[in-house]
Parts: sequence; structure tokens; C-alpha cells
Amino acid sequence: MAYETLIVETHEAVGLIRINRPQALNALNSTVLAELKQAYGAFHADEAIGAIVLTGSEKAFAAGADIKEMQPLEFADVYKSDFISGWDEVAKARKPVIAAVSGFALGGGCELAMMCDFIIAADTAKFGQPEITLGIIPGMGGSQRLTRAVGKAKAMDLILTGRMMDAAEAERSGLVSRIVPADKLIDEALTAAAKIASLSRPSVLMAKEAVNRALETTLEEGLRFERRLFHSLFATEDQKEGMAAFIEKRKPVFKNR
Ligand code: CAA
Repeated sequence: MAYETLIVETHEAVGLIRINRPQALNALNSTVLAELKQAYGAFHADEAIGAIVLTGSEKAFAAGADIKEMQPLEFADVYKSDFISGWDEVAKARKPVIAAVSGFALGGGCELAMMCDFIIAADTAKFGQPEITLGIIPGMGGSQRLTRAVGKAKAMDLILTGRMMDAAEAERSGLVSRIVPADKLIDEALTAAAKIASLSRPSVLMAKEAVNRALETTLEEGLRFERRLFHSLFATEDQKEGMAAFIEKRKPVFKNR
């Protein structure tokens, strides 16, 4: 499948998607959205793929939603089409997605990184929600996901001033899970994704569901949800295999069932 704005590869059980609009610092236009949905769909349909890495270029993960595409739009246009809501489908990916961020992750770029399950940042990464400087506010989840990730004080600071934060500040505030040297970014992300893909698929998908539930519900309900999923994994062959392999001091061979 040839894409106009993406470069898509597979690395054994990992799908790698690079956003590729260098002339616009990977600004997210409607073509990027349509193609990302297609690429995600293909990886989700492919049983052999266990995890996805989403990245950009060295200079930019993505510098935001495409300002040139948005500038002429009127209220009626964006309201009637529920502009930008298509990204919700990207956020709902079932297989784990790691964002590998180098350079700018601004506006919709930062929001796209936050739609992924976790963010590995190059030491060159810069995060921000500069929408306020354009006379708008974040529209792809920034005010909600950033606040959950870094807390109200830091989210207000970033969203109200539009300033950028570097990788160290992003790690300190809990937005990114780890920082790596820029030239190791893709290798680190692929290694993490390959590890996830090597594990039992039902347990990986349920772990992701359980963590995401923590953001949506009360502690009591979340604990109940976790325990039900935990119980259900005892119905899998992989639980028998994983535990037998531990006891027999060998590597498990998971069948993903
Ligand atoms: N949309 C469209 N084009 C963009 C873009 C964007 N978000 N960001 C960069 N570009 C384009 C520039 O217009 C420029 O194109 P031309 O050469 O044709 O002029 C090209 O990419 C290179 O950009 P710069 O020359 O500006 O590069 P720089 O290195 O000097 O600056 C930057 C880099 C600081 C990231 C700067 O490009 C910038 O501020 N970009 C916009 C960031 C932004 O405001 N993002 C939020 C967008 S709104 C949004 O995302 C809404 C939402 O929540 C959904």
C-alpha cells in the first residue's frame, strides 16, 4: 500500500509508521488522518502484528494540526462536520501504540503522541500546546489528556502561555516514560514494542484496557474491572504456559489464546 504522507514498515511483529510531510514539519492534515486510520486498520487486521510504533522525523514528530488547512474554515464548517473528531478513532487503537518523539510535538502533534499508550522521547523532543497563540484552544484532546498526564498546574501553564517544554521537563512531569539519545530513539521504541509483541496478546490487550480504565472510573470500579480481567486470563492457554515455563525455568511459547 503506497501512502502519500506516511512511511509504513513492519519489523517482525512490530508495525512502524512514520509521518512524512517534511515540507510542513509533519503538520496533521486530513490526508494524514485518513492514511493513519488506514495504516492502523491494516496493522490491527494483521494477526502477526503485536504492537505499533508511531514516529515522525528527527526534526518533528508533528508540529500540530495543519494551520493552512484550518485557516479558512468557518464555525458552521467545523461544527457541522464535527471537525477533528476523526482522531478519536486513532486514540481508540486496540493494539499497543508507542509514540517515539523526536523534535517538535506541538498542538495536535502533542495530542497525537498522548493518544498513544506511552511516549518515548528523544533528548531533542519539545512538547507544547501553542493553540492559544493562534486564537484557538487544543481540539484533539490536549486540555483533557495533558491535564490527566501532568496535572492542572503544568497543563494550565503550557496551555495558557503556549510555551514549549523540553524532554527533561516532560519526563519530570510524567508526560513521557523515558528519554533516550536521538540516534537511539527508533531502536529503543522498536525494542520496547518487540517485547510487548512477544507477550501473550490477550494479557497485553487486557493490561492496556485496565490501565485506560483507571482514567475513566472510580477506584472501586477500576479495581473490580481489573480483577474480572485478571480472573478471565486464567481461562487462557497462555496463562498455563507462562506459569509452567517459569516453574520449568524455560522461555514460554505463547499461542495468543
Ligand atoms: N501547519 C501547517 N504548516 C506548518 C505547521 C502547521 N502546524 N507547522 C509548521 N508548518 C510549516 C511552515 O508553515 C513552514 O512552511 P513554509 O516553508 O511553506 O513556510 C514549514 O512548515 C517549516 O516551518 P517553519 O519555517 O516555521 O520552521 P521553524 O523551524 O522556523 O519553526 C516551529 C518550527 C516552531 C514548529 C513552527 O513551525 C511553528 O510554530 N509551527 C506551528 C506550531 C503550532 O502552532 N501548532 C499548533 C497548530 S493548531 C492545532 O494543532 C490545533 C489542535 O489542537 C488540533
